[in-house]
Amino acid sequence: MAELHKDIERVVLTEDEIKEIIARLGDQINHDYADKNPLIVAVLRGAFVFTADLMRAIKVPCAVDFMAVSSYGDGVKSSGVVRIVKDLDTKIEGRDVLIAEDILDSGLTLSYLVDLFKGRRPRSIRICAFAVKDIPNHTAAVVPDYVGTHVPDEFIVGYGLDYAERYRNLPYVGVLKSEVYS
Ligand code: PRP
Ligand code: MN
Ligand code: MG
Repeated sequence: MAELHKDIERVVLTEDEIKEIIARLGDQINHDYADKNPLIVAVLRGAFVFTADLMRAIKVPCAVDFMAVSSYGDGVKSSGVVRIVKDLDTKIEGRDVLIAEDILDSGLTLSYLVDLFKGRRPRSIRICAFAVKDIPNHTAAVVPDYVGTHVPDEFIVGYGLDYAERYRNLPYVGVLKSEVYS
């Protein structure tokens, strides 16, 4: 276990737990895409760490492309608007698109992307979310096809997830101490 960062209140997912999640998601995807050639779309920036691990657990032929969107900016609350920072370079018409996202919180980012991609006529669109936030009394607009794990409704960082662009490099997922952002 890596030494705990001073700004982290407690660990939510250890490196070993993350490895198990990746292996399980890989198995499910390998099974479901056995005769396909999916295009994995990593949602930058947060999903780049997860996608790098997930790709290596996927054994079927696949390609990767990157879409950069941002809604949180440097804050702890969503701006409510999804801003495209970088679009795909790949034509997705007729492709089996698998969106790899680090976390589904309000669902705004993923519902925006699914709507956007649907207009480009892919053969299929599925979502693989590493983590889904458990928000009481909240029904998300999108339900991921593959869910790595559920996390508590707290501000978490690490494994690609940031606060003001920091902490993405932590190899585990942890709750950020509130004094860091309040
Ligand atoms: C974060 C996270 C997800 C999204 C989830 O991205 O990586 O993409 O928010 O929140 P939502 O379900 O409420 O939309 P952010 O906008 O912080 O950009 P980043 O990936 O570059 O950190
Ligand atoms: Mn993101
Ligand atoms: Mg962010």
